[in-house]
Amino acid sequence: MRASVLLTLALLTTGLTGRCTAGEPGPAEPAANPLAATVALGRLLVEQTSTHPLTRDYVGAALNCTSCHLDNGTHPTAASFLDVATAYPAWAGREGRVITLEDRILNCFMRSCNGTRPPQGSEPAVAIAAYITSLSTGRPIKMNAESPHGPRRVPPLAIDPATADPAAGAKLYADRCGDCHATDGNGTADGPPVWGPRSFNMGAGLSHVEHLAAWLKLAMPLDDATLTDREALDIAAYVNSHPRPEFVIEEHLPPDAKLGVYNGKR
Ligand code: HEC
Ligand code: HEC
Repeated sequence: MRASVLLTLALLTTGLTGRCTAGEPGPAEPAANPLAATVALGRLLVEQTSTHPLTRDYVGAALNCTSCHLDNGTHPTAASFLDVATAYPAWAGREGRVITLEDRILNCFMRSCNGTRPPQGSEPAVAIAAYITSLSTGRPIKMNAESPHGPRRVPPLAIDPATADPAAGAKLYADRCGDCHATDGNGTADGPPVWGPRSFNMGAGLSHVEHLAAWLKLAMPLDDATLTDREALDIAAYVNSHPRPEFVIEEHLPPDAKLGVYNGKR
């Protein structure tokens, strides 16, 4: 009985569909989805930031976004991009403004990537924002009134940063980090620079010992993040005892006319 009802319905539906479309233009061919293509471009750009033609001119460091946002930002804790878009627009004390996710992304080019802020509305800005937003699909919006961070932000370590011992950090660095990042900090084929001219600048979050320590604990050594709070803090103090590029904001902002573009059709 039930099966026969279903069969009747199926026949009806087929019949109806046939009648409606007969002699009329059919539904448009499912075109390649431009939004999905933009998300895919953003994913590529966070991985190839320093080499891709759309972003390389905006990057000064030998770093990509994914040098710190591990696994294309899908690492659950180490500067994760998961759920991040739910927090924006957010209050940013550093900027003294409420900022958008796009602002946050562009500021990372100036600071963590020691480069120049790409124009708002430019192709890389929109693509990276689309990719990061796609990683919050289905998550409830909860704009952050305290700071520009998503719900998975790196938690501070429960250790007093004033107790850091860079000499102990030097030994640990040689044991646990030097093979990949080089004893002179300039990086190797197995790991990017962690200080020196091709590293992130003094405006980056990781230039603060306590932020670097908290991130290291979740992220490094790569695939073996087993440092204790004490070890992470000592190593962070050692790494950040070395010089890296200064941050003078005027040197990282393009001329006013290039801060944003109208990116629609005219
Ligand atoms: C040198 C390391 C480093 C690089 C390179 C870097 N970032 Fe970040 N970024 C961080 C850290 C650390 C945070 C703070 C994460 C936290 O507290 O959870 C952060 C925060 C962010 C946030 C805010 C996350 C949130 O919770 O709201 C966004 C968005 C972001 N970065 C995007 C980018 C993009 C896009 C790039 C490349 C253009 C980039 N970052 C390059 C280290 C880096
Ligand atoms: C097996 C090699 C390896 C080891 C060991 C290792 N790293 Fe990394 N590290 C990497 C790679 C590779 C990246 C970039 C992540 C990516 O591209 O996926 C990275 C990223 C980083 C970054 C952020 C990007 C940058 O270069 O500023 C810092 C800081 C860092 N590592 C510090 C350390 C410290 C400190 C240690 C020791 C506790 C350590 N790493 C151990 C391979 C390693």
